[in-house]
Amino acid sequence: MSLELHLAGKTAIVTGGSAGIGLAVAKALYSEGVNVAIAARNQERLENAVSAIQSLPTPGAKVIAISADLTQAASVDTVVSTTLAQFGQIDILINNAGSARAGSFLDLNDDVFLDAWNLKLLGYIRLVRAVVPHQKNRRDGRIVNIIGGAG
Ligand SMILES: NC(=O)c1ccc[n+]([C@@H]2O[C@H](COP(=O)([O-])OP(=O)(O)OC[C@H]3O[C@@H](n4cnc5c(N)ncnc54)[C@H](OP(=O)(O)O)[C@@H]3O)[C@@H](O)[C@H]2O)c1
Repeated sequence: MSLELHLAGKTAIVTGGSAGIGLAVAKALYSEGVNVAIAARNQERLENAVSAIQSLPTPGAKVIAISADLTQAASVDTVVSTTLAQFGQIDILINNAGSARAGSFLDLNDDVFLDAWNLKLLGYIRLVRAVVPHQKNRRDGRIVNIIGGAG
């Protein structure tokens, strides 16, 4: 049985969309007809992901790759402005990039906690802050924040 999700024509940002869960989410959205912007750091992995996504059947969606280190505030702006320039709207934000390094609480040093803070907390907050005004203007939108047990 298939469901009609009424997603065709919408636009999604999927952070960490070049691998793992993010790539799987990007593929699923594209297959539903959603225009997808995937963001991650490694350009080659992004290009491979775009090829893999484009090989799927879709009712008319497009996919773009945006190279961005989402620990950096300027990169968040780049992801949002590039997506708006390409697709004109942001209906869905999937905050997914990266993983907090796992380990024993007593063994993890300050750098590990700061890295996790910059990507998994502040990085997510910055993207939500940048996307919500567009969604409020359109009176529609969805945001999914994905974290793991290390959070
Ligand atoms: N896999 C699991 O078992 C599991 C379990 C529970 C929760 N989760 C959560 O699910 C999410 C995805 O996990 P995953 O296992 O799919 O991860 P993954 O396979 O390691 O993929 C991580 C993705 O994030 C990107 N990324 C990493 N650091 C980044 C940065 N600073 N800026 C921009 N992009 C960055 C990576 O590309 P680049 O390296 O090229 O930037 C890649 O596209 C995470 O939130 C994780 O905590 C995963």
